[in-house]
Amino acid sequence: MNNLTADELREMYQSFFESKGHKRIPGASVIPENDPTVLFTTAGMHPLVPYLMGQMPHPAGTRLTDVQKCVRTGDIDEVGDAAHLTFFEMLGNWSLNDYFKKEAISWSFEFLTTKLGFKPEQLNVTVFRGEGKEGEEGYIPADEEAVEIWKSVGIPEERIFRLPREDNWWGPAGTTGPCGPDTEMFIDTGKEKCGPDCRPGCHCGKYIEIWNDVFMQYNKNEEGKFVPLGRHNVDTGMGVERTICMMSGAATVYDTEIFAPIMAKIDELANVPEGMDPAEVLKARRVIADHMRTATFILCDPKGGVKPGNVGANYVLRRLIRRAVRFARMIGIAPGFTLTLAETICQKYKHVYPELEMNLATCRTDLEAEEARFNRTLDKGEARYNKVVSALKEHGQSRISGKLAFELYDTFGFPFEMTCEMAAKDGLEVDKAGFEEANRKHQELSRTTSAGSFKAGLQDNSAVVTRMHTATHLLHAALHKVLGPTANQKGSNITAERLRFDFTWPEPMTAEQKAEVEKLVNGWIEQGIEVTKKTTTVEEAKKEGAMALFGSKYGDQVSLYSIGDVSKEICCGPHVANTKELGSFKIQKEQSSSAGVRRIKAVIGNM
Ligand code: SER
Repeated sequence: MNNLTADELREMYQSFFESKGHKRIPGASVIPENDPTVLFTTAGMHPLVPYLMGQMPHPAGTRLTDVQKCVRTGDIDEVGDAAHLTFFEMLGNWSLNDYFKKEAISWSFEFLTTKLGFKPEQLNVTVFRGEGKEGEEGYIPADEEAVEIWKSVGIPEERIFRLPREDNWWGPAGTTGPCGPDTEMFIDTGKEKCGPDCRPGCHCGKYIEIWNDVFMQYNKNEEGKFVPLGRHNVDTGMGVERTICMMSGAATVYDTEIFAPIMAKIDELANVPEGMDPAEVLKARRVIADHMRTATFILCDPKGGVKPGNVGANYVLRRLIRRAVRFARMIGIAPGFTLTLAETICQKYKHVYPELEMNLATCRTDLEAEEARFNRTLDKGEARYNKVVSALKEHGQSRISGKLAFELYDTFGFPFEMTCEMAAKDGLEVDKAGFEEANRKHQELSRTTSAGSFKAGLQDNSAVVTRMHTATHLLHAALHKVLGPTANQKGSNITAERLRFDFTWPEPMTAEQKAEVEKLVNGWIEQGIEVTKKTTTVEEAKKEGAMALFGSKYGDQVSLYSIGDVSKEICCGPHVANTKELGSFKIQKEQSSSAGVRRIKAVIGNM
């Protein structure tokens, strides 16, 4: 096996595929450019969706290769074990309706064995075993073609595993999009099987997946159906960190050259309390390294605009930073460390991702402010905890109430597990059921309040305000058309004189863009489109593609307002019955509201 660095692997992979007729393309931003179905780019295929769908030819041709920064936070709580990462780099090669299974599999095998030096005996592969019965609805055949190709390159039947859809079907990445059966490649680490059922896909650590070839033959549509795409695409993804780990023989990804400087910096900063469980120390070091790497890439992303906050991608970023801060406190790292680590990460990656160096200076304030803010909250929470605990001890009690655990969680940002950990150290237990009950009550309450405050955005229900409100929906729809789906509502305020609409957008709109938005809205007004309302669930509304203040808490039933097929939004109303009632629409001002957020003030006619 060759012992490569990540730098060497990136280069070797892309030049190998260049030798097979692929063009190298730049990886995309980690904040999706045009895909509202995901918060972050989670695979190399995201930026290629329009080309995979066949909507337009890719300027670089039908064979592409790149390295893509990816963020996946679904398993954030698992981070700290040997394998989970929230950020990773994915090497990929694509066929846009060009080659298919035979070439993809043979090249994967060739690269793994001749370039990376894995022995064929170390390789185990999985393929899709099919679903349903022939002739019946929902039937998808087994991928015997992939099996035959694997055999033809020399993988014997006993190392080919036929698995169900949970294991061998990829995508779509968001709710809709291209997807298909895949074949995954695993390295056998040589460890003992954890039991008789141990096989690739088992999480015991014997088999590590490093590459996935997806045969994208289907599209999942808005009704949730898998329909043939009418194209045979290949989408592959190889994980840089895991591959380097397997090649170097390191025990975990954190023990590779990729993480070496980050872990070294953490060790330099840490002042581990005496007697702390070494397993806990290890977990903390890994969480800090992983989360700070992800946070640094998000903060410094060239597309920009994601700051620590309470909604969507902003919330994910906040959570990453705060978890890192919390774990840093546990191992005695002094405040101010987030920037130090971001700088270390920047040094490690800046030759590959120059945006880190370019953007770190502007992001440092956000990072430092978030760390400081959370530290203050944790200080207050700890003081509160200590006070209650001494009182409990004085009275000879040994149980922390659910109410206090909830207060620590809700007001001071202590995850429930953290309270339990602290309590265990003090020889106390925590009322879990009581905590859950308090949490449930709180959620009910905030649903009611948020429905109320949503309404409160409207100062009165007079006719003009109602009309203005419908105009806001049209404006939102027009902004999506002209600027794209990332121009999302951040806030809205309506008075009898004007509407005010804040939305995410990084730069001033051009005169043409403003004119186009006005033209679209006025066009819809002239068309006299009917406005309809129905009551549904948030899930259903989202499925229909409705816009909403995602991240807000809605009740079980919501009102969904549709303006023909121009706009669909979850909203409390009220609205006019027909767009004609607005008369006309004019933008008065377009200005900055805050970093990454623009503000439009507009008026309607016949007021
Ligand atoms: N899209 C596939 C994956 O994420 C292959 O890149 O595994």
